[in-house]
Amino acid sequence: LETAGAKVKVLLGDISTQEDVAKIFQQIQASLPPLKGVIHAAGVLDDGLVQNLSWQQFTKVMAPKVAGTWYLHQLTQDLPLDFFVCFSSIASLLGNPGQGNYAAANGFMDAIAHYRRGQGLPGLSINWGAWASAGMAARLASGHQQRLEASGMSAIELERGMQALGSLLSDSPSQVGVLPINWSKFVSQLPSGKKIPFLEALISAEPSFTKKSAFREQLEAATVSERQELLTTHLRSIIAKTLGLQDIQKIEMRQPLFDLGLDSLMAVELKNRLESSLETSLRSTLLFDYPTLEKLIDYLSVEVLSLELAVVLDQQEAEEVDQSNLQKEIEQLSELEAQNILLQELDNMNF
Ligand SMILES: NC(=O)c1ccc[n+]([C@@H]2O[C@H](COP(=O)([O-])OP(=O)(O)OC[C@H]3O[C@@H](n4cnc5c(N)ncnc54)[C@H](OP(=O)(O)O)[C@@H]3O)[C@@H](O)[C@H]2O)c1
Repeated sequence: LETAGAKVKVLLGDISTQEDVAKIFQQIQASLPPLKGVIHAAGVLDDGLVQNLSWQQFTKVMAPKVAGTWYLHQLTQDLPLDFFVCFSSIASLLGNPGQGNYAAANGFMDAIAHYRRGQGLPGLSINWGAWASAGMAARLASGHQQRLEASGMSAIELERGMQALGSLLSDSPSQVGVLPINWSKFVSQLPSGKKIPFLEALISAEPSFTKKSAFREQLEAATVSERQELLTTHLRSIIAKTLGLQDIQKIEMRQPLFDLGLDSLMAVELKNRLESSLETSLRSTLLFDYPTLEKLIDYLSVEVLSLELAVVLDQQEAEEVDQSNLQKEIEQLSELEAQNILLQELDNMNF
């Protein structure tokens, strides 16, 4: 900015502390040209499943986005601003496993943008996807980034993100989501039967939304003896994908999956993937209740798939046994015995 001729002044403060924000505005008023715009880009992450989050993890993440946005709004509402932009996240638009606190914090920013517009004030909340190269998403562990990619989202390149910001500053609705996303891939990862009404317009245009799970079709078409093997291989490959393992044979039948690196976020992801491929809804404690491959196979094949599979299996097996017994009996009959049975049957039919 300075090479482009701008003067840059950095005023430090905690955005979630009213006195700090007020002090910054006093400094601006005393020594700088009139304030014409606000871009609120302060934020922190502290991820975890909602049931595991401490209150401190909540308040820490909420502080800059809730208190901070509110103080900025309060202290600028009488100023003739050109723009008031909140850097929100896709987490408050689509949700993200492990980011309940962050989604709620960003949801507040989204609401403030709408509220300000309603008051005739400038207001824009941008629900950014993950930015590439720099920032909080780029600093996340590679496992988290792989998870994002697997869900169909890719990162926003710096230049394209800045272009989007530029065009949104000149004209936009009060809330806009910006993220490169492959909707087919995103939808195929959703738990079976899960609908997001908010995305209906996009969803109806996607053929894969109505497509039956390929694995379930394969499982149904397989013979009884092939099914167990198919399910085992399928589970192994989904577990390996979730854990980022190359060799699926590393997943031993009785080894606890948490020993292989599965964490609680991955457990949710794995459950979602299984729901999607098996077209069924599964309990949220699945991986905690059935923590090994062997236990998962037993549970899924008996408790989850059995109602649809075992009945069919039993009937098929019984029919196969009946037919082979009948054939043996016929083969053992003498010609005279066979003739007598035939005559008896014809007699019964009044032939
Ligand atoms: N990067 C992404 O992929 C992404 C995606 C979606 C949304 N966003 C949003 O975009 C914004 C910028 O993200 P980023 O990637 O640049 O994050 P970042 O690299 O982690 O930077 C966040 C900045 O916020 C500051 N901050 C946090 N709490 C503060 C407080 N109470 N008072 C004053 N400053 C505070 C931090 O200051 P200190 O360093 O001094 O702590 C840091 O400079 C965030 O609001 C984030 O939620 C980012």
